[in-house]
Amino acid sequence: MNELSSAIRKDARKISLRVVQPADPIDIPLPERTTGYPELRYMGSKRRLLPWIHQVLNALDFETGADPFVGSGCVAYLMKCMGRRVIASDFLNFPATLATATIANSHYHLDGPAVKKILGSVKNGPNFIERTFTGVFFDRTDLRFLDRVCHNIEKLENGYHQALARAALIRSCLKKQPRGVFTITGNRYDDGRRDLKLSVEEHFLEQIEEFNRIVFNNGRHHSIRRADVFDLKPRGIDLVYLDPPYVPRSDDNCYVKRYHFLEGLSCYWRGMEILKHTKVKKIPKPFTPFSYRRTAIDAFERLFHLFRDSTIVLSYSSNGYPDREELEVLLRRYKTKVEVHERPHRYHFGTHGGVERAQVHEYLLVGH
Ligand SMILES: C[S@@+](CC[C@H](N)C(=O)[O-])C[C@H]1O[C@@H](n2cnc3c(N)ncnc32)[C@H](O)[C@@H]1O
Repeated sequence: MNELSSAIRKDARKISLRVVQPADPIDIPLPERTTGYPELRYMGSKRRLLPWIHQVLNALDFETGADPFVGSGCVAYLMKCMGRRVIASDFLNFPATLATATIANSHYHLDGPAVKKILGSVKNGPNFIERTFTGVFFDRTDLRFLDRVCHNIEKLENGYHQALARAALIRSCLKKQPRGVFTITGNRYDDGRRDLKLSVEEHFLEQIEEFNRIVFNNGRHHSIRRADVFDLKPRGIDLVYLDPPYVPRSDDNCYVKRYHFLEGLSCYWRGMEILKHTKVKKIPKPFTPFSYRRTAIDAFERLFHLFRDSTIVLSYSSNGYPDREELEVLLRRYKTKVEVHERPHRYHFGTHGGVERAQVHEYLLVGH
């Protein structure tokens, strides 16, 4: 154990439990639009906790809210639905693409002419996806469709049209992939569900509608980037919602292992190296200090320091490392008042072996 972590453990023992207990009843209705946000079954998604997160956020005073671990985008979209200006980022490209389509995009829909362009036939187009993923994911018709559509999307002039089309494509592939993760190949998990029967093209047409439906303008200008949190230079952020991955007690928390196909798809694997020896044709995973015991505590310390001028709302779970008490001690180094909200929660997530469920306690640590 390093010095920082043993000092924190000592302080943590002194902390009395000041949890807002038991789970506060949720009596403030969630903004209606929020419920239309497409379900992505993203690992660690807070979608099912949105009513509670909304209740906590609603009691805080902020105009500009940041979400630098935006993931599926559902919390950032909630802040947009609450009428706030949103600044969001993620170190992966596909979450940033989803957030560009749904949060930064206030006006653009994919209408008939745009869809026609996207679906148009292509002569001698690229076939990277077909060449790389035949026998790995999807059938040849789906893979050819993806090659063609990706090529056409790159030709669209409007960046929001591109992001919307890619978002629709990302969700189509997620729906068509058993368990919603790209760690498994073949169709041994095919239980005859509609989602597995539809072609990627059929999904895509449905998903365009889904994403078109949730585009709206809240009168604010939002900003989305792909960025490692430690490369950000936060300015003018009243509140930051922090939902980093936590070091799990078992298994791993690697997003690239589960979603490498979507990450590649979001930019047609441009500039990415395919790890050819891997069965599912993965890409290398980027380093994040939140994934390892030896670096996690220091990463949280740096994170709180980075956002010391904003109200901090940290999502955390009882099955992560470090403990909630240790995080509370760290947060107190930068914030004079810290409240802890707690709620029981059951996670469902796909693994290569199936769907796992874990009963945990979710926390929201609010530092003012
Ligand atoms: C728990 S998920 C966020 C889930 C999100 N709040 C939701 O409800 O869908 C954590 C996210 O942090 C991102 N991430 C991990 N390390 C990061 C880093 N160093 N900088 C920025 N993003 C990072 C991952 O790509 C992942 O999308």
